[in-house]
Amino acid sequence: MRRKIAAGNWKMNGLKASLAEVEALKPVCTGECDVILCPPATLVAAMAEVAKGANITVGGQDCHWNESGAHTGDIAAEMLADAGAGAVILGHSERRADHCETDMMVHNKALAAWRAGLQAIICVGETEAERDAGTTLDIIGGQLAGSTPDGATAENTVIAYEPVWAIGTGRTPTLEEIAEVHDFLRGRLVERFGLDGEGFRLLYGGSVKPGNAAEIFAVSNVDGGLVGGASLKASDFSGIIQAANG
Ligand code: 13P
Repeated sequence: MRRKIAAGNWKMNGLKASLAEVEALKPVCTGECDVILCPPATLVAAMAEVAKGANITVGGQDCHWNESGAHTGDIAAEMLADAGAGAVILGHSERRADHCETDMMVHNKALAAWRAGLQAIICVGETEAERDAGTTLDIIGGQLAGSTPDGATAENTVIAYEPVWAIGTGRTPTLEEIAEVHDFLRGRLVERFGLDGEGFRLLYGGSVKPGNAAEIFAVSNVDGGLVGGASLKASDFSGIIQAANG
């Protein structure tokens, strides 16, 4: 039985005052699922402080593959860990698009995350044009293989499937389409990692809301969600955590 995950990605949103939302989430963080919240880097340390003692892991949204050095504006995995993070999102489609991140870069960032003791949440997902062209599974298979290093285990890695066209649009794939991709990802992980492949958590992301979370989380091989907009307010994210609590 895989433990479900409710993960929130705040993206470039949140000031110190937003930490009140974390406090407000605590009553539903009862330990039935894993809750991960990824604020902008400026809030990691302060959020880790607020989350102390609660069943909430704080995560980063990206890291560099090096431990230190001349990389202006970048953040090392060790720095995230030092600030209190336990996880980091890697290869989000917004970083792949805005910062030209390649599978190899994501692969190297995952190695850095593990080096620092962070769980890597590796994102994959097709664009609308790729889905229309019927190449969804090819694209996702390639991203999974290229972005996930050989040392991946069910403990150090989570895979998030986020169709680019479903992010922030209010549109989601059908439950059958979600199942198709998640079953495919499971198959690829088992092919590569054997029995351990059964243990990896696979998150769905893209317009997850309190109103659709329960039906999405009930889909075959969906082990929770990676949530953007609806993770910003405790009033919304609580409903999603409760759906993951079961
Ligand atoms: P939305 O939930 O806002 O669609 O964003 C999904 C996402 O990109 C999470 O990483």
